[in-house]
Amino acid sequence: MADGRPIIFSGIQPTGRKHLGNFIGAIRQYVEGQDRGDPAIFCVVDLHSISVPYEPADLRERVLDTAAILLAAGLDPERCIFFRQSDVREHTELTWLLSAVTSHGDLDRMTQFKEKSGRARELASAALFYYPVLMAADVLAYRATEVPVGDDQRQHVELMREIARRFNARFGEVLVVPELVLPEVGARIMDLQEPERKMSTTGGTEAGTVLVLDDEKTIRKKVGSAVTDSGREVRAAPDKPGVTNLIDILAVARGTGRAEIEREFDGLGYGDFKRAVADGVVELLAPVRERYEELRPDEAGLEATLAAGAEKARAIAAATLVDVRERMGFG
Ligand code: TYM
Repeated sequence: MADGRPIIFSGIQPTGRKHLGNFIGAIRQYVEGQDRGDPAIFCVVDLHSISVPYEPADLRERVLDTAAILLAAGLDPERCIFFRQSDVREHTELTWLLSAVTSHGDLDRMTQFKEKSGRARELASAALFYYPVLMAADVLAYRATEVPVGDDQRQHVELMREIARRFNARFGEVLVVPELVLPEVGARIMDLQEPERKMSTTGGTEAGTVLVLDDEKTIRKKVGSAVTDSGREVRAAPDKPGVTNLIDILAVARGTGRAEIEREFDGLGYGDFKRAVADGVVELLAPVRERYEELRPDEAGLEATLAAGAEKARAIAAATLVDVRERMGFG
């Protein structure tokens, strides 16, 4: 951390189906982090994506989709380090080394594993069980001080903090214990149709999940049919999860807070409110989609950007691995 600036690290799974939750909870924070971080490091986590069934021929395409979405959203390779996880082999090596201070019980407690493995626990891949250790290695390899994520990653960040503390206690102060960084508003964007569930392309509803790459008509349709709550007041409250979610979305789109939105729509009905939310989401995402269309066809350019990022990332991670290996007694 040179002159008190944070070292920021975050990762994102490769899919072209990134949604408004990813955008508000995470991607927006990455873009802001570029100017604070020294460095700010962002990674498309293709190694994580093999923890669930996948198509090898698709994987590279999905990495490029994601890379283009992030660049379109405002990541600037001149101001951050942006790369593909599997290009930096130190991540996998550190995963194994960190296993020494990670217990089976730690992993067994992870709610994401329970949710994703579901009833077919016995058939879930070992990779799905091991996912949080690879995630810890991602962050600890860079001695990152801040991890900007959405609320659903809280438990994983807690575990990586514990792994770093245990490593340091056992082998000496080599790793940095990172801080969880959640956005002030929008850390947990909910499904528009089932606002008790988080927005997600794997666990949510199709109609309730706004994709970053949805066109304007689709966005308006999804927001227009969002479930609201009984009553007609535009007010954030625990018994109004649908309206609260829409207030948060509009607050982020406008760059204001909940109170301003509540004041503006005081006395107006849900119809006006939803139209404003749709306008806000279109304004937020349309430029990203347009820019994506320009960037995505240039696969060689995207590959070159990721390769240049990997080189910078490797230099940092390799230095950490030298220290870790030495402390652990390897040659
Ligand atoms: P992924 O790709 O599933 O999610 C990317 C980011 O989006 C956030 N997010 C949400 N935020 C608000 N509301 C939602 N409904 C919502 N859904 C998802 C996630 O919290 C995440 O920040 N495990 C990570 C990937 C990862 C990682 C890392 C993150 C791998 N290694 C190291 C940080 C540091 C994930 O689930 O990505």
